[in-house]
Amino acid sequence: MVEQMDAYSEAATSGLYAKQSGLVGKYDNVRRLWEDEITRFFLRPHVERLIEHKQSLMQRVRILDLGCGSADGYELLTGIRHRDADLQEFEIALLTPGVLGFYKGIELNEDLIRQAQAISGDNSKLAFEQADFTKGLPVSGDEKPYDLYFTSYGTCSHHNDDETLICLLADIAKRTEGYSLIVCDWLGRYSYEWQTLWTNNLAENRNMDYVVSYIYEKEEREQLRDQLDHLLLRLISRQEAEGIVAEASERAGVEIKPLEYFDRSVFTGRHMDTAEYNPHAQPIRQAVNSLHEVNIRTDLSSLLIDYVPKPGFEFLDDYFEHLQMCWNTLVLYVDELMQLYDIVTRGYTSPPAPIPGSYPPPLQEMMERMRLVVEGTGWLGYGLPRENIIEPQLGYALRYLAMKLQRGLGCSHGLVGVFEVDKR
Ligand SMILES: C[S@@+](CC[C@H](N)C(=O)[O-])C[C@H]1O[C@@H](n2cnc3c(N)ncnc32)[C@H](O)[C@@H]1O
Repeated sequence: MVEQMDAYSEAATSGLYAKQSGLVGKYDNVRRLWEDEITRFFLRPHVERLIEHKQSLMQRVRILDLGCGSADGYELLTGIRHRDADLQEFEIALLTPGVLGFYKGIELNEDLIRQAQAISGDNSKLAFEQADFTKGLPVSGDEKPYDLYFTSYGTCSHHNDDETLICLLADIAKRTEGYSLIVCDWLGRYSYEWQTLWTNNLAENRNMDYVVSYIYEKEEREQLRDQLDHLLLRLISRQEAEGIVAEASERAGVEIKPLEYFDRSVFTGRHMDTAEYNPHAQPIRQAVNSLHEVNIRTDLSSLLIDYVPKPGFEFLDDYFEHLQMCWNTLVLYVDELMQLYDIVTRGYTSPPAPIPGSYPPPLQEMMERMRLVVEGTGWLGYGLPRENIIEPQLGYALRYLAMKLQRGLGCSHGLVGVFEVDKR
């Protein structure tokens, strides 16, 4: 009997027997269903072009992930889908094993490297190396150049001094043979989460004291307050990112061309829930996590945003207010749709209010979509249609709004820049 219990102990210590929840932690629902997916959406056309280029040369793609953590970049990139596949498709990955030649992860933290190695098992296409990317490009002289130089989730903000990032980018540009893509991922300077740190003088508040408190739930966070880890992280606006890249281009004597900037997590950054740097921040990430959580019913009023403007930052206030208005309008509309829906007659008791043509097109599209979702699934009964279909669909509709209305200026938790070096 005692021996039999060993099986449970082994399962418990493996970590895989733990209760899974998308409501909290590093890999919560917002990370997997919003942040990873938004990043994939914006990267897809660039990665697609890179693959086409490599295939035209009969070569496979080589990736260098700088600050790879536990190989998160590998998972993110191999999760990019070929296109919005129809229902019949099965093979939908873009970076298939036949296309990926080699992935190397660079990481300073030994524990994370061990974790990455454990996750990747004996896949010999993956390698991990301990190195410090602020000391130059961690690639040896005889190593073949890479095609994609990748960072994710704010890793470039670990360059507290711009000089180290400029050197790294210039190195990449010089080492590129033919063509390479570079993805830089920073913390946005003007995220609503840290509104108290906003400044019009870009010489101020360059690095923030970032407390890693969000991985705990509220009560635990308060108890652990004095033991929490802090990081010094560079806050970046689009203008500053452009300056860094232009300087690196000049140093290398090679053009590093910006292809795209995008803002990720405008009202859903992790510190919205902690209100650590903005007393007005509301736990919107928690509410969105709940929308996507299986079998959990969300109080839709917890999703309503009351953006509090900051005097002197009108150029940001207009943007945030616009997104807030669109966001709240969609939430309230879905609430109204559910009030009007009758599961017995399988229809609306009275027609939902018409969607004004003056609304921004993404909002009109998502309102129409949600009308069809509620109408088409509200009657299902078994399987909790509100919790498991309507609420996740509202999550995707809100994600669409945030994605379509973003401006790539650093008004969000993450600002990502995609660049190319083309010597062909
Ligand atoms: C924000 S985390 C991102 C981790 C991972 N890429 C992801 O997407 O979740 C930044 C990572 O960069 C690593 N890092 C920080 N400074 C570094 C440095 N100077 N050289 C190499 N890695 C570094 C950290 O240990 C951490 O794993």
